[in-house]
Amino acid sequence: MAKLLDGVAIAGEIKNEVAAEAKELAARGITPKLVVVLVGHVAASEIYVRSKVKTCGELGIGSEMITPPETITTEEMLTLVAELNGRPDVDGILIQLPLPKQVDTKRLLEAIDPQKDVDGFHPVNAGRLQTGQPALAPCTPAGIIEILQRSKIAIAGANAVVVGRSDIVGKPAAMMLLNASATVSVCHSKTANLVNYTRHADILVAAIGRPGFITEEMVKPGATVIDVGINRVNDLSEMEKFFPNDTARAEGFARRGYTVVGDVDPRAFAVSGAYTPVPGGVGALTIAMLMKNTVRAARQRRG
Ligand code: GUN
Repeated sequence: MAKLLDGVAIAGEIKNEVAAEAKELAARGITPKLVVVLVGHVAASEIYVRSKVKTCGELGIGSEMITPPETITTEEMLTLVAELNGRPDVDGILIQLPLPKQVDTKRLLEAIDPQKDVDGFHPVNAGRLQTGQPALAPCTPAGIIEILQRSKIAIAGANAVVVGRSDIVGKPAAMMLLNASATVSVCHSKTANLVNYTRHADILVAAIGRPGFITEEMVKPGATVIDVGINRVNDLSEMEKFFPNDTARAEGFARRGYTVVGDVDPRAFAVSGAYTPVPGGVGALTIAMLMKNTVRAARQRRG
């Protein structure tokens, strides 16, 4: 039987640990603080950001939300970042992505003080991660490592295959698995014979962004499958694929208009040894790791 790796439970453990650390810091007069910058009105971003701010409150972390208008320029954003870099009470700066087209995202992310870069997107943190130095690491890949370690799944010596090469997930996930002594392959849309890689993966990380892309024949029986996909589907026939034995559930989602599914077909989970579901898997860890990075940034700068 494939074992479900419960991201919500693991995130709960981490949040408890982070709350305890925040309490210790508070006893010494230090309240870790996260500032979240949300530009414009992207519905998904608004949901994520609200959830980040709410979790801060639950764990004793201070938070502030800044909501510049959709029309903000790169220069104005750079001024804002410089101001936040200079504020002693601010430990973490998170600029919610994506940004409007006119804003130069790379330039902006490079302007954040690496010590306050709780997203781990600054080239200095990416470089530190690559050279095996202590770094603020991107939250989703860090969450993947936590799930594996806390579920006692061996990383050292495992064949790990990461499908997807984004700067936010695929590349840093590959680097962190390599740092933990896995043998790592990074596959992507131009990979020839993808199945030849995925079939040999002891740990398969799916970070493609296409619903149900990883199918049964692509998974080695007994492998650990980590599904990073967050895909909205609104077509009933597509939904039925994800809830094969529960047409009523698929129909319910269809009436609502959409549901969120991962990059892995449920029949592929069935042949795995262990897997993270969507929702309730990796996604649950991302915010917990952001909180962990924020407390860490506070401790490093002020502790
Ligand atoms: N948009 C989607 N995921 C993320 C994330 O992890 N960090 C930021 N800043 N924006 C995102």
